Amino acid sequence: MSDQSEQLYTVLRKSWSENQFIRLTLSKQRKGVEAANRVTIRPVTIRGKMQLSFVSQYSTKDITKNYPFEEGEKRIQQLLETAYLIANLFTTEKQMVLEMRRNGKTTLRVQASKMTDDAPPRSHDRKKKDWIADKRFLVELGILNNSGNVKKDKGDKYRQIKKFVEIVDGLIRQQSALENKDSLRIVDMGAGKGYLTFALYDYFTHTLERPVKVTGVELREGLIKKGNAIANSLGYKGLNYESGFIEEYDLPETDILLALHACDTATDDAIYKGINAKAELIICAPCCHKQIRRAITKSEDLQPILQHGILLERQAEIVTDTIRALLMELQGYKTKIFEFISTEHTGKNLMIVGQKHERPVDREALLEQINAIKNRFGIDAHYLESLLDA
Ligand SMILES: C[S@@+](CC[C@H](N)C(=O)[O-])C[C@H]1O[C@@H](n2cnc3c(N)ncnc32)[C@H](O)[C@@H]1O
Repeated sequence: MSDQSEQLYTVLRKSWSENQFIRLTLSKQRKGVEAANRVTIRPVTIRGKMQLSFVSQYSTKDITKNYPFEEGEKRIQQLLETAYLIANLFTTEKQMVLEMRRNGKTTLRVQASKMTDDAPPRSHDRKKKDWIADKRFLVELGILNNSGNVKKDKGDKYRQIKKFVEIVDGLIRQQSALENKDSLRIVDMGAGKGYLTFALYDYFTHTLERPVKVTGVELREGLIKKGNAIANSLGYKGLNYESGFIEEYDLPETDILLALHACDTATDDAIYKGINAKAELIICAPCCHKQIRRAITKSEDLQPILQHGILLERQAEIVTDTIRALLMELQGYKTKIFEFISTEHTGKNLMIVGQKHERPVDREALLEQINAIKNRFGIDAHYLESLLDA
């Protein structure tokens, strides 16, 4: 595949996950190919799930077919390779024209989107979307007052909850195994008060209307009792809290594993459990990074940087999370690391997402990268690596 095509698919995927995709058209048939005059692909919601809707326009009729995103993307690639020479991609951010000339040359023109105001209802709806359908749990958890207004000091938390649901919404639409499953199991490790546990239960149950079982695992008994009491009082049958340590929790097969702000190596324990439970999605927001901070050996050349506590802390954070991501890649997960909420709301805003895939993994290259980082920082072992090795 050409670099230009790869760029187009990267923007397509990003626009899909960030709800910015407007449409893609395929045109100019290849010589000798019997195909529709043009194919227009738009997002569509079917029974609460987002899909790609392909409308193939023939001279006398239109044929519509819908696909989950991953399958749809493969179909687009196949059509571009075999039947069409031009692809026009429109997102709320960019417009791209990919053209494969008959002489074999490929060009890609990119410009800022002129369609922001012309975006389909889906994009507008999603931008304005509140992400929370049944706000009663937010009243019970002390985010909203009894009149349904956000309490003075809870604005950041409220925004964080909504942003989190929006991220999960984008991720599940990229994971065809989750899109097509009848019932989902979600486990939130170190659930705390359960803002996010409740929010996901609400989103799947009330917005997407999909059967879901959500469990919050937490070591503090008081939070477990309170979480279960609220779930019962609101009639949230598929939501429960269980008492336990992440590292000891017997995790059954799970679709989505969350671990947000679980301390230090508790994040590694949760990732490890998620991998073993064959989770399609592993979503974590690491907290502190003590294990690697202690394990880093300050070699002479790194001394000027690592002598400063704050820089050592930041370096430990980067090293810890990079190795976490590489280890997840080694286990067959595509990983992304990004800031999920602005730093003005919280410093602990890094999110690591692992999306399970079935593609071959270049183990040798990944192990080489992990070892190079460990050697550079004089680290014997990363805690997650030890768990996986054992
Ligand atoms: C900082 S809070 C985060 C709560 C929630 N995940 C969030 O992001 O809003 C971390 C929670 O994890 C729990 N926790 C920490 N280590 C744990 C462990 N090893 N097993 C179970 N729970 C743990 C703590 O009791 C606390 O409630």
